[in-house]
Amino acid sequence: RLSVQERIERKRQAALVGGGQKRIDAQHGRGKLTARERVALLLDPDSFVEYDAFVEHRCSDFGMEADHNKFPGDSVVTGQGRINGRLVYVFSQDFTVFGGSLSGAHAQKICKIMDQAMLVGAPVIGLNDSGGARIQEGVESLAGYADIFLRNVMASGVVPQISLIMGPCAGGAVYSPALTDFTFMVKDTSYLFITGPDVVKSVTNEDVTQEELGGAKTHTAVSGVAHKAFENDIDALLNLREFFNFLPLSNKDPSPVTECHDPSDRLVPGLDTLVPLESTKAYDMLDVIHSIVDERDFFEIMPNYAKNIVVGFARMNGRTVGIVGNQPKVASGCLDINSSVKGARFVRFCDAFNVPIITFVDVPGFLPGTAQEYGGIIRHGAKLLYAFAEATVPKITIITRKAYGGAYDVMSSKHLRGDVNYAWPSAEVAVMGAKGAVQIIFRGKNNQADAEAEYVEKFANPFPAAVRGFVDDIVVPSTTRRRICRDLEVLATKKQTNPWKKHANVPL
Ligand code: COA
Repeated sequence: RLSVQERIERKRQAALVGGGQKRIDAQHGRGKLTARERVALLLDPDSFVEYDAFVEHRCSDFGMEADHNKFPGDSVVTGQGRINGRLVYVFSQDFTVFGGSLSGAHAQKICKIMDQAMLVGAPVIGLNDSGGARIQEGVESLAGYADIFLRNVMASGVVPQISLIMGPCAGGAVYSPALTDFTFMVKDTSYLFITGPDVVKSVTNEDVTQEELGGAKTHTAVSGVAHKAFENDIDALLNLREFFNFLPLSNKDPSPVTECHDPSDRLVPGLDTLVPLESTKAYDMLDVIHSIVDERDFFEIMPNYAKNIVVGFARMNGRTVGIVGNQPKVASGCLDINSSVKGARFVRFCDAFNVPIITFVDVPGFLPGTAQEYGGIIRHGAKLLYAFAEATVPKITIITRKAYGGAYDVMSSKHLRGDVNYAWPSAEVAVMGAKGAVQIIFRGKNNQADAEAEYVEKFANPFPAAVRGFVDDIVVPSTTRRRICRDLEVLATKKQTNPWKKHANVPL
């Protein structure tokens, strides 16, 4: 007979190899790392503290009670550790044990670390690689999903939640990532869908591959379900570490400050000539953003989706900021349904987690057309307006060129409690462009050319907004970084609250 000590050791060893060497080899054969290898890469060396390595599933149907069907730790590795010294809770689904499928015990392990993360105020990162509900367990497994969903919702806005999809994630399983703040994917080896290609074929008669239906490209460029995709497991985990450095640990934690080697008073001379004189000519808002933020380090969120708006994280003088910018290079920077939703979700994350928002405005308005109207641009555009209006974090806005119509109001305008609103000399704040405006107010009249010139003279400049105090100053573009850094210093102690409410009713 084995001593207790020997039994403990044996179980611990068994937990370390999950579903066994053959399945580990198969996992590697697919270009994927194992659950434990992933945790080791994500966290600082030797910082992982594991929970529940002895937990086993409790199913006794379909022969599951047999010893060879029990794996210490079951199909998920859970615990806490550090990323660059900062606390994080992690779960990593183990595809080598029953395809990483979710048993009651598996769900319980995830819930336990989520509860702890909430108690101490630390983010939760989920590494998803799972064949879905543990088929042998039936409703027990479905209950497990719901227990996790509830915690995702309770944790929303309290601690950051990040999902990295590193294998299959199908059926009900998709809703946990969908409820988290950010969903990242690994190219070629991960996919997310409600039902797989076979079910799609039988119901809609469509022929579609797994990759087309729910691969990284689909979700980062077409559906907007995922926020970014990475080349492989290693690339994804290393990027996740970088990303984590931008985030506060909880909604009670100030946004992180790192040591900054980029002078906060650095001038950016290139900006003085960046905006083309011709107002219909495009330029790249990413050039503006890269040149202003610390060390050109910009972690773009959803870079391949709704490219007419740019959102992402950067630092100003070492302090994390959220950046939102219209992108004149794509659809002239118009706001449409997808860009409104993309922007709104990002702004709400920043506001929930004390991250100041810097907004670069060059927007000719909302995109016209039946596709947009039928799709509900009014409802979706309202989301972005709502998000900027309710945000109480420091808000700094720079109008680089066009700020037309309702879109001017939406883009973190003074009227929505912008703290500091600047215009560059190239700014034009008006109801619309001169040509369109004159066609409406001088319809059928002869002197349209004169009227257009008058309109440009009156409105195609920053003065109408500046004389009313709707922008606080007209600034030389090259000084923008310096101004923003100083403003953020001042605004660091900003305190603002919204009226009490059970919860707001954001248009969905
Ligand atoms: N429940 C229980 N066991 C599961 C499982 C599940 N949901 N999904 C996979 N497994 C097991 C398989 O039986 C297999 O076990 P084995 O190693 O003892 O042979 C192992 O996990 C690996 O699965 P396999 O099918 O060989 O891997 P694959 O890479 O070829 O396919 C999936 C992966 C996820 C596409 C496939 O397993 C699948 O379709 N699973 C069911 C998905 C589903 O419908 N889930 C329920 C709805 S939420």
